[in-house]
Amino acid sequence: MATGTEPQPRTGVHDASRAAITARHLRTDRWWLAPAATAAGLLAFVVYSTWRAFANADYYAAPYVSPFYSPCLAENCVPMKDGPNWAIFGSWWGLSPALLILIFPLGFRLTCYYYRKAYYRGFWASPPACAVAEPHKTYSGETRFPLILQNIHRYFFYAAVPVAGILTYDTVLAFRDETYAWGHMGLGTLVFLVNIVLIWAYTFSCHSCRHIVGGKLKHFSRHPVRYRLWGWVGKLNARHMQLAWASLLSVALADFYVYLVASGAFDDPRLF
Ligand code: FES
Repeated sequence: MATGTEPQPRTGVHDASRAAITARHLRTDRWWLAPAATAAGLLAFVVYSTWRAFANADYYAAPYVSPFYSPCLAENCVPMKDGPNWAIFGSWWGLSPALLILIFPLGFRLTCYYYRKAYYRGFWASPPACAVAEPHKTYSGETRFPLILQNIHRYFFYAAVPVAGILTYDTVLAFRDETYAWGHMGLGTLVFLVNIVLIWAYTFSCHSCRHIVGGKLKHFSRHPVRYRLWGWVGKLNARHMQLAWASLLSVALADFYVYLVASGAFDDPRLF
């Protein structure tokens, strides 16, 4: 009976360097669980964020603005006192202003090294898991269009930093009450605080950030500040996957919180 491990004829230099195994894989554990869970989690976020991005409603409940709609760059944004509301793009044909700004955080996440691994495995089975061959006959990696565009990740990092800065500003504005009086906190303020900490932690844990901070140096000893920063970023970078998921969840929760308050389904409890 064939086991899949019988010796195979060697037909070339490449074959000679690899184990002669015809079975697709020899793993006996539930290797499919991680890619299946990843695909389910990412799909849930895509469905939710698509609904919210196109809804064009219930994204502002003073003093909170949804992170999906901030900064608001169209004329058709709801008025937000002191909020990041700059009508750079006119009426934007009445389309949802979220579509203007989500390009940047979405591009940052889509081209992220971790998310690439996650969706290549979860959706394209390329490969589905370690030591499990992919079903595709050819492989060109990220050397051709469209996947060569993944290499612009560093530029999305540059765009993600100011967006995170604006979300920080929104979090500061959240220390007001619904009459815009300062020095107050609601449950929403806490939700925003947790979200912005996770957004910054994810942003600074980026591999491109690590390279920007500590790359291309010959002697760390001559750059003590960059060495120190590189060490901090490296510690965050080791948790990049966890931060990617935690910040994805927190940004969706922050948006959902604003939706609940703005739609009248929930009253923001005041802490003080
Ligand atoms: S590598 Fe994941 S955000 Fe840059």
